[in-house]
Amino acid sequence: MEVAVLGTGAMGFGMAQSLLRAGHAVRVWNRTSDRAAPLAEEGATVAGTASEAVRGADVVVTMLFDLASTEAVVTGSAAAFGPETVWVQTATVGRSGAAWLADLAADHGIATLDSPVLGTKKPAADGTLVVLASGDPAVRERVQPVYDAISSRVVWAGDQLGAASALKLACNAWVLSITTATAQSLALTRSFGLDPALFLAAIDDGPTNSPYAQLKGKAMIAGDYPASFELSGALKDLGLIIRAADEAEVRTGVLDAVRDAFATAEERGHGHDDIAAVHEAMGDRP
Ligand SMILES: NC(=O)c1ccc[n+]([C@@H]2O[C@H](COP(=O)([O-])OP(=O)(O)OC[C@H]3O[C@@H](n4cnc5c(N)ncnc54)[C@H](OP(=O)(O)O)[C@@H]3O)[C@@H](O)[C@H]2O)c1
Repeated sequence: MEVAVLGTGAMGFGMAQSLLRAGHAVRVWNRTSDRAAPLAEEGATVAGTASEAVRGADVVVTMLFDLASTEAVVTGSAAAFGPETVWVQTATVGRSGAAWLADLAADHGIATLDSPVLGTKKPAADGTLVVLASGDPAVRERVQPVYDAISSRVVWAGDQLGAASALKLACNAWVLSITTATAQSLALTRSFGLDPALFLAAIDDGPTNSPYAQLKGKAMIAGDYPASFELSGALKDLGLIIRAADEAEVRTGVLDAVRDAFATAEERGHGHDDIAAVHEAMGDRP
């Protein structure tokens, strides 16, 4: 298939690599062209504009930072979409964001699927993301080869555009809560005068263990935070989650505390580090 990838940041870059590996003809565009250029060596065509990438594509994948950037890029390139082109929207934009983009697609007569993803930079590059998808099932059939290239499985959230973005918020609430809970227990262990690694050893193999807590916990102990999922992006997501929870009348106390920890870590200079750096917010209480 002819596939355009708009946005080759941490996630979009790896997704483009996975699409190339699966044999698709891939055109990429990124606002900062240097970040897309290395994909040329892997066989992608690097486009100078989003419209140039979109023109003639069977599927357009957007993986931009947020609602505002996605809206701006798709509005600017809408005229280049063909009547059969399907737009696969994979960024995390929240419930209201997904509704907004569904209206944008309808206004321009573009068929679209709400398709946020679970997984970070490495699963994106390995083609092992989990796609959460919703929309018209007939459209899904047309984009299945793209889902196959970027993911190990698709969780179909329903025929309503936006259902997948709602599920994504629940999933990220989970991920960011257990990241913060891991940081909290490590900080407690250390502050009690114990080796923090004892906490990970204690939960290992038990029913409350998770490979994720072990992975992020080890990074926290090492104080080593190369970004898989940037802390600033998680803060953006927490804003979306808390707003949606408020609207749905779900108690936000736990999420408020998680956001507070992430905001403190950002203030301490960790915005571009991995979310494991939330650990840096736990000690030296102001
Ligand atoms: N990283 C993860 O683990 C992960 C996992 C699942 C979902 N997500 C979601 O996936 C999306 C992308 O995440 P990421 O980690 O790939 O972020 P990223 O590395 O920061 O990349 C963001 C992309 O958006 C582009 N962009 C930002 N503002 C723009 C604007 N105003 N106009 C045009 N392009 C703009 C950036 O272009 P430049 O290069 O020019 O800045 C870049 O291509 C986010 O919604 C994030 O929440 C991330």
